[in-house]
Amino acid sequence: MNASCDIDSPEQFGSLDKEGMMELVLNLPGQMAHALESGRTLNLPHLSAAQILHLGMGGSAMAGHLLRAHLRDELAIPYEINQSYDIPAWAGSRTLAIAVSYSGETEETLTALDKAARKGCQVICVASGGSLRQRALAMGAPFIEVPSGYPPRAALGHLHGALLAALEKTGIAPPHDKEITETIALLESLREEWHPRVPLEKNEAKRLATRIAGKVPIVFGSSDASAAVAYRWKTQFNENGKSLCYTERFPELNHNEIVGWAHSFIPQKAFHVCFLRDSGEPEPIKTRIDFTEEIISGKTTTDHLWSRGTSALAKLMSLVFLGDLASTYLALLYGTNPTSIDVITEMKKRLSTLSKGKK
Ligand code: PA5
Repeated sequence: MNASCDIDSPEQFGSLDKEGMMELVLNLPGQMAHALESGRTLNLPHLSAAQILHLGMGGSAMAGHLLRAHLRDELAIPYEINQSYDIPAWAGSRTLAIAVSYSGETEETLTALDKAARKGCQVICVASGGSLRQRALAMGAPFIEVPSGYPPRAALGHLHGALLAALEKTGIAPPHDKEITETIALLESLREEWHPRVPLEKNEAKRLATRIAGKVPIVFGSSDASAAVAYRWKTQFNENGKSLCYTERFPELNHNEIVGWAHSFIPQKAFHVCFLRDSGEPEPIKTRIDFTEEIISGKTTTDHLWSRGTSALAKLMSLVFLGDLASTYLALLYGTNPTSIDVITEMKKRLSTLSKGKK
């Protein structure tokens, strides 16, 4: 495909990225550092819960998906992400419902919160303000305020940090300060490698975007952690890159999707497959990836993207950062503004007219 923007040209870049998504994406380590400081001053009572129910949609759900993946080997209780108006039948007084809405106005989250409160769940709310803040005050529930003014998906560092601090302060998760500090330092060095000023031939994030441009990315996670990252890549390629994107994960895809790849009833060249990799993959997973690569590489292009760092959080966030940057570069290659999500705004407007009509 012919690129409509030269991603090595800061002028062309700036004229498309009018609201500064690239700057926001590059500031992920800064947001994490800010969240770490704010978390230190957070005051919450110790809680005893048997489950965590994270109520949130879109960018506000994503912080939960990544946190759940990050803490999977540490938490003694299940962490479920609830992305709908309804909540599960098991939710009750032993459930900690964490309602997360960056804007504070998402109707699914507010409705699910009301249901959780009626069922006697313990509640914590996280938002930059809005109706969720009002609900928390009215319920007498702890409210964690994150800085306002970002597109929700670009506030990931703030949301992740607020949630992690909430679980630490309530005694549900142990402290992670050392891991967060390592992650911030790693992301700062990756920012130098993948920065817009680094030319295409030396810049892995730009190269990835150019390989994806004109194709539908399909992102495979190789573990629970990278499956969550694959989902982040999907949502970022959707919203920043204005692209379709699909995800699957190992080992599950070897039980179904691989059959579709092994046959070519429709052209598979339209896809670009990204394998999210980690140096600690167990042997059976490596064998599965090698086998799958052999099947797919004859049909279309593939890339293997490796996590960096040593701690679980650093590995997770290094891949998140790569996907966030690649999706922003993709928008520029498509000649479009990475920030605008007009169709989501339009749909939210239609829904608010509907709910006003009912009042
Ligand atoms: O990226 C976005 O803007 C969306 O995915 C939002 O996060 C989603 O619509 C939910 O909004 P909020 O995060 O404000 O609750």
